[in-house]
Amino acid sequence: MRNATSAQRLDRATKKTHKIHAFSYFSPMNKETSFADFLKGENSIQLNSVLEAIADATAAIHQKVAYAGLNDSTGTAGSTNVQGEEVQKLDLIANDIIVAHLQKTAGCAAVVSEETDGVLPLDNDGEYVVAVDPLDGSSNIDIAAPIGTIFAIWKRTTTGTANDKDFMQKGNAVAAAGYVLFGSSTILVLSTGKGTNGFTLDASGKYQLSHPAISIKKEGKIYSVNQGNASKFDEGLQSFIAWCTQTDKATSRPYSLRYIGSMVGDLHRTLLKGGIFFYPANKGETKGKLRLLYECIPMAYLVTQAGGAASDGNQSILDLQPTEIHERTAIFIGSENTVNTCLKFLKTEVLA
Ligand code: AHG
Ligand code: MN
Ligand code: MN
Repeated sequence: MRNATSAQRLDRATKKTHKIHAFSYFSPMNKETSFADFLKGENSIQLNSVLEAIADATAAIHQKVAYAGLNDSTGTAGSTNVQGEEVQKLDLIANDIIVAHLQKTAGCAAVVSEETDGVLPLDNDGEYVVAVDPLDGSSNIDIAAPIGTIFAIWKRTTTGTANDKDFMQKGNAVAAAGYVLFGSSTILVLSTGKGTNGFTLDASGKYQLSHPAISIKKEGKIYSVNQGNASKFDEGLQSFIAWCTQTDKATSRPYSLRYIGSMVGDLHRTLLKGGIFFYPANKGETKGKLRLLYECIPMAYLVTQAGGAASDGNQSILDLQPTEIHERTAIFIGSENTVNTCLKFLKTEVLA
């Protein structure tokens, strides 16, 4: 006891106070499965090298995110992107990091990024193309709230220099999709078509398996939407929101409202706790705000692989045929039964 370090003494005191026996803040975890080990033998060599490049890039972005306030990386970059949206400094930093990592990777034939106008061709011998939202939830950067990176990867369909055609593939055809959440932990969530798994970034900058085989609840008690826009929604959706807020013991209503304003943050909660996230079109329109290739398809793939559902209001997001690289879609995504309830309201347009 006399030779115990202060950490050991604090550990013992903590256990005594909280009657914790099996867990210590200071002892190493059980043998971990690294991201690289998890991928081994599962996919083609090229796909794994693209996935590892993205993992390394997001570990580098994590550093930029964590210290943004010290590195003159907050605030606007003073430009707008191809979609007319104000670009933040960190949007560009994250984009440059992702592109630089993919450029060095055998396997990546081209990138489509939210921050770039057209297709950026890379290695003509690469078999895969990557669509990426380098920094999602940029309005959260300056307040140190959750943000993320989202990506989808397809096997290319052309030869030679990759082009738009390689990206006009449905969500059902993706080879892999994922996101990285920069929250109170940095967590990479990935699917290569065999379920959805989560990996936490450790202190050495490597991802370790922390959320194996994520399974989303069939029914959730949380709804997530920018309710400030509700007057612009179809009547059916307004009815659904009213229904969520009504008291009914049998269905555990009222539901809780949670809205982080970063799709990655809101979807990570939805995956782990259940419920629904939606970003609808305005009345009389069919397209919402969120982008099909690098926001909605990857999230729909991950949620579907975890047992949930994702729709544009009429059909599965994964069945939508992309026609433009930056196109948008409405999205209703999360627990299967909760999404179906929402879609029923959307279709009936009956006020509750
Ligand atoms: P991005 O920062 O990549 O442009 O994405 C922002 C998106 C998404 O993350 C979030 O769900 C949504 O915008 C929030 O929009 P509102 O502020 O309109 O609610
Ligand atoms: Mn985004
Ligand atoms: Mn973005």
